Amino acid sequence: MRLDYVTIFPDFFAPLALSLPGKAAAKGLVAFGVHDLRSFTHDRHRTVDDTPYGGGAGMVMKPEPWGEAFDALLPADTHADADAGRPTVVFTTPSGEPFDQALAAELATREHLVFACGRYEGIDQRVIDHARERAEVREISLGDYVLNGGEVAALAITEAVVRLLPGFMGNAESLVEESHSAETGGLLEYPVYTKPPTWRGREVPEVLRSGDHGKVARWRHEQAVRRTAERRPDLLAPSVLDDGTPIVRAV
Ligand code: ADE
Repeated sequence: MRLDYVTIFPDFFAPLALSLPGKAAAKGLVAFGVHDLRSFTHDRHRTVDDTPYGGGAGMVMKPEPWGEAFDALLPADTHADADAGRPTVVFTTPSGEPFDQALAAELATREHLVFACGRYEGIDQRVIDHARERAEVREISLGDYVLNGGEVAALAITEAVVRLLPGFMGNAESLVEESHSAETGGLLEYPVYTKPPTWRGREVPEVLRSGDHGKVARWRHEQAVRRTAERRPDLLAPSVLDDGTPIVRAV
């Protein structure tokens, strides 16, 4: 997979060289490219923003540097009907679709992601419309809060996506049994413990030391359901059994 980032703050992406993403790049599993949007400007001040048409506070990112960045990063020929194999341009924006594990898994199937990191009040809408003619476009929000720009969101999305790539994680099982994975029914993860058995007067739950795998599995599921109900009731959809008995089911 190839991942490109267009930003006015290339230094934000230094962490890509660290930890697992850095190792994955060294192994050739992924390739990262970071591009300074200002390198696609031609004026003395390397201007990337201007005042909004229609008035209002703040500045809007100008379309021209983005157009040139896409010319450099996206293939020239555009087949709107052939989404398969096209690059995916991700605009990180608080007005995008919410990012979640399912979206991470979807993006992990792509060959080429281009992150367009907006700043100020956003990017001229024509940039997004134009990108749609040359690539799959996803506008993605990290959550219902406003960051100063899309860089942190692009990094978070990258980490969630890249760790799903085959061969990326040492232990594939830890991907299966984690919060939000479809395999655990979308429940939050149960509490975990390691040695020593007693620490500062606190004991590891007896059941985890019992050696009874069935009991352990039931306890973990119970804990996951309890946690999810307490912290994220929105992840539990009420439903009914065939005979009308209400049940609570993970969605
Ligand atoms: N840029 C600013 N706020 C953002 C958010 N919540 N998600 C993604 N990109 C952003």
